[in-house]
Amino acid sequence: MEKWFTKALRFVPRLVLITYVATVLALESGLIAQRTAVAPETSSSQPEHDFPPAHWQRTSGAPSGLRYVGRNACAGCHTDLAESEAQTPMGRASTHAVESDILSKHQSLSYTDGPYVIHIERKDGQEIYSASDGQQHTVSVPILWAFGLGDAGQTYVYERDGIYYESRISYYKDIDGLDITIGHNIKLPATLSEALGRPLSDTDVFKCFPCHTSEDVLNRKLHFDLMKPGVTCENCHGPGSQHVEAIQNRNWKNLHIFNPAHLDPGDLNDFCGTCHRTTYDVLAARVYDIRTVRFQPYRLEHSRCYDPTDKRISCIACHDPHVNLVTDLNSYDTKCLACHMRNGEKPTATRGARACPRAAKSCVSCHMPKLSLPGAHYKFTDHFIRVYNPGESYPD
Ligand code: HEC
Ligand code: HEC
Ligand code: HEC
Ligand code: HEC
Ligand code: HEC
Ligand code: HEC
Ligand code: HEC
Repeated sequence: MEKWFTKALRFVPRLVLITYVATVLALESGLIAQRTAVAPETSSSQPEHDFPPAHWQRTSGAPSGLRYVGRNACAGCHTDLAESEAQTPMGRASTHAVESDILSKHQSLSYTDGPYVIHIERKDGQEIYSASDGQQHTVSVPILWAFGLGDAGQTYVYERDGIYYESRISYYKDIDGLDITIGHNIKLPATLSEALGRPLSDTDVFKCFPCHTSEDVLNRKLHFDLMKPGVTCENCHGPGSQHVEAIQNRNWKNLHIFNPAHLDPGDLNDFCGTCHRTTYDVLAARVYDIRTVRFQPYRLEHSRCYDPTDKRISCIACHDPHVNLVTDLNSYDTKCLACHMRNGEKPTATRGARACPRAAKSCVSCHMPKLSLPGAHYKFTDHFIRVYNPGESYPD
């Protein structure tokens, strides 16, 4: 316990920066109506080091003078990467509702919630989401966006009178049907509108979309007209206009593009954590139970294996964000054995972590347990690497 808190403290300067950026961004975007509600910190709170690199802040988007060029432009040169990235769950983290595979395969879905019947139906080229109360009252809206691919849920976003809403009902692959969206109150809604979903605050909207869509944050403002579905190249690499110019001008000295591989491993975890959630997000949300199991950067930091200066335990040591998640668990053994000895081996300067007294392969199957997140109909891989005792209470 003590150890991860000590580690967490080392992150404080960066976390302060992240909070600062998030606050400034929400303020400047004009999305926080009460401009005086949050006092921005002074600019003297400089980062401990350059995180993220000065020219590109993932969460504040393209600064003036830079443009997004779009995935297709990147694909013109990085063809293979672009093809595989487009197929990943991250690349497909959202779609326009009419393009959702799940909704296309299910022309009509319904769910009974007490006295309410909820329907999702394809009508006149739209996905119509409706709630009726069995007494001739019905409220219906067209769905704009489908978020997620249904493993841990596909949730719908719609708009009514200029306000965005998150659907109270989501689709789950495991049950091949609808159920309450995780995080929503299971108490019976009082009105038909509440049975459909809950309004998203401006701050929610500003968080939600940039985690699931791309090319829409410019000068700290969210542009719905520019929004592209999914997490695409420039959401991670930053706007590419100068990069394309640099390549065309054969400026090999400065390619003008951000490559997260150049970050320190701890900063890279925070980088992925701008979406996957870090210790800071957990402290801010004050969520300390099984719900944190989906926050991999936070969980990984608990592990005795974790070292923010060691590349062998950073997210990209085990995951290539341009290709699908590797599901052959044995293939992760080499990642563990980069630091851990095999039984009988002698420690070396770089490889001296203890050997397992129990087994020689399939390390993650025992030490990174898949835990069920209630309500999500899905098991997440706990990134808190440890000696796991089935039946133990969730260590936080
Ligand atoms: C006109 C061709 C071209 C286009 C278009 C292009 N790139 Fe590149 N890119 C290159 C070349 C050439 C390199 C250097 C060699 C390499 O690493 O493949 C490069 C390198 C990179 C690197 C590595 C940089 C480093 O410092 O390690 C990244 C990241 C990158 N490109 C991302 C992108 C993204 C994202 C887009 C779309 C916004 C894009 N590229 C569009 C040609 C292109
Ligand atoms: C812009 C937000 C964003 C960033 C940045 C981001 N991710 Fe993701 N990632 C997502 C979302 C959203 C999903 C869920 C996609 C879905 O299932 O709909 C996801 C899913 C994943 C998955 C699961 C894929 C699967 O097959 O289930 C992996 C692995 C992953 N991300 C790794 C990373 C790594 C490594 C980084 C940092 C290099 C990273 N992500 C950065 C948003 C992001
Ligand atoms: C801070 C970034 C962030 C925000 C904000 C965010 N998400 Fe996500 N979302 C993720 C990441 C990362 C994942 C993948 C890991 C997981 O399932 O937790 C994900 C997963 C999901 C999934 C499950 C996907 C699947 O394929 O199983 C759904 C559904 C979802 N998000 C919907 C939403 C909706 C709707 C909103 C806003 C109303 C939202 N998210 C806000 C980052 C975010
Ligand atoms: C979720 C974040 C994320 C997304 C989305 C993403 N990348 Fe990357 N990219 C990374 C990371 C992290 C690295 C460093 C990977 C490494 O070195 O193992 C990288 C490295 C690269 C490199 C240089 C290294 C190499 O493999 O040659 C290129 C080129 C690149 N990305 C292009 C793209 C293009 C093109 C797209 C869109 C089709 C894209 N990336 C989408 C995170 C991302
Ligand atoms: C030591 C290896 C290792 C490291 C480091 C690692 N992961 Fe994973 N990750 C795994 C394994 C193993 C799985 C499960 C693969 C499967 O489902 O078959 C996984 C699964 C995931 C998933 C899919 C959802 C889930 O929970 O099952 C996401 C998202 C993810 N990792 C994100 C990250 C992020 C972000 C980081 C960096 C903070 C990271 N991982 C670091 C090994 C690793
Ligand atoms: C960056 C190096 C590194 C990597 C990669 C790594 N570990 Fe570790 N791990 C350590 C260190 C250091 C310790 C603590 C000292 C020791 O065990 O010698 C540790 C401790 C552990 C422990 C004991 C935890 C405890 O609470 O006592 C387990 C179990 C473990 N690692 C399993 C794994 C597995 C499984 C993987 C791959 C998924 C892995 N490690 C990857 C460095 C690493
Ligand atoms: C069949 C389940 C299983 C597999 C597979 C497995 N382990 Fe273990 N591991 C355990 C158990 C159980 C313990 C606790 C043993 C004990 O306390 O006597 C343990 C202990 C450890 C420890 C702590 C050692 C110590 O001295 O306290 C490390 C490190 C470790 N394992 C790493 C690994 C690595 C690396 C792999 C893959 C090469 C691996 N484990 C595969 C079940 C497993």
